[in-house]
Amino acid sequence: MSAPKKLYIKTYGCQMNVYDSERMAETLGGQGYVETKTPDDADMILLNTCHIREKAAEKVYSELGRFKGLKAEKPDLKIGVAGCVAQAEGEEIMRRQPLVDLVVGPQSYHRLPEMEAKAGAGEKVLDTDFPEEDKFEKLKRRPKAKRGPTAFLTVQEGCDKFCAFCVVPYTRGAEVSRPADRILREAEDLVERGVREITLLGQNVNAYHGAGPNGDMTLAQLIWELDKVEGLERIRFTTSHPNDMMDDLIEAHGTCAKLMPYLHLPVQAGSDKILKRMNRSHTAESYIRLIERIRAARPDILISGDFIVGFPEETEEDFQATLDLVEEVKYGTAYSFKYSTRPGTPAAERAQVDPKEADDRLQRLQALLTRQQREVQDSMVGRELGVLFEKKGRFPGQMVGKSDYLHAVHVADCDAEIGDLRRVRIVSSGANSLAGELIA
Ligand code: SAH
Ligand code: SF4
Ligand code: F3S
Repeated sequence: MSAPKKLYIKTYGCQMNVYDSERMAETLGGQGYVETKTPDDADMILLNTCHIREKAAEKVYSELGRFKGLKAEKPDLKIGVAGCVAQAEGEEIMRRQPLVDLVVGPQSYHRLPEMEAKAGAGEKVLDTDFPEEDKFEKLKRRPKAKRGPTAFLTVQEGCDKFCAFCVVPYTRGAEVSRPADRILREAEDLVERGVREITLLGQNVNAYHGAGPNGDMTLAQLIWELDKVEGLERIRFTTSHPNDMMDDLIEAHGTCAKLMPYLHLPVQAGSDKILKRMNRSHTAESYIRLIERIRAARPDILISGDFIVGFPEETEEDFQATLDLVEEVKYGTAYSFKYSTRPGTPAAERAQVDPKEADDRLQRLQALLTRQQREVQDSMVGRELGVLFEKKGRFPGQMVGKSDYLHAVHVADCDAEIGDLRRVRIVSSGANSLAGELIA
């Protein structure tokens, strides 16, 4: 048998790319590739890219430039670009960077084995189709090897919402849900491999409407099916859209013990004028009422959000409305971004906010969000929480895991193993994590 070829994958962007990278590595495993942690000894390099903001897309080209030396040393080295930049820029990538042998979009990576063979024969190959067939059906069943206690599982892809700033509907295509039985089978396989916590992924995960035994299922119905999977201890999902937050899902947060008390529910802005221009089709008020209903079902739920500042035509008054909304909701964690103009999206054509002003707003918003985040984290001190242990800590005997609310928790002199879910009393709160002690 010949020595295995080595594959180096670097992943940018959202969790869905993390999931896709795993699936791509598994697919190429069938072609004799094993993963390596460095590009230096790779036979194939794949960059799984993100197009969400300008900086993310530009990173790809600077990273590619760095492989010039490697390719000169090893002419057989194949370089590929996958993910959302591949989808958005296609052939342009090969024009801008002739080192690239292969470009594959997020909906066609099940064809990687054929593409790899062609690239091996010296061809330049590009596939950014949105094929009719379901790539997940074409991919082989996942390998059985043991793995870590947490995993992502894509259940829904694409987006039909067309927020005025966003490239996702163009790079990921229309909204599609995977059939429930396939998801359940994949979840069972993951649990057999040691997984205890699954995060269901979708660009609009709560719009899930995959085929079930008696017609389409909602995300809540899918969660209740997963609840029955023995050995699966925790269920999470991301990312949700406020308009798809159905009653049965809100209720599940109060009644399904495996569903964790954490919800990422982006609002983007607090001014109705800006929300309208963003094409978000909800108001600040309707969002706040929705959060109230969710908290009525699960009072301790940790709310997470995404924000954009400096969206075209955002005034200081509009920005104040965002700060007001944040004050009212109280976020446990949040991601905030300066608006980035994305070619081809409707907002790109509009009057842009002065970048210095946008920087200033971002700083003010982040100061507020950081303060809230810290308050929520500090409020965990004294509580008894579930912690799923994921790895060893830096000190002998120390273990690190995640709480139900997704905070990192360090436990000293800890007899828990990786993959154990234990009760922990939180004793202190640090800059980015909590410390606790095992209960019994
Ligand atoms: N499907 C998810 C996530 C989309 S991308 C959702 O609907 O929320 C993740 C976040 O990136 C978005 O929530 C938004 O806050 C941010 N984002 C998207 N496009 C952006 C742009 N052009 N400029 C700045 N931030 C952007
Ligand atoms: Fe982008 Fe809006 Fe769709 Fe989220 S809902 S992926 S922000 S278009
Ligand atoms: Fe980026 Fe594509 Fe995800 S643009 S955020 S990798 S869906």
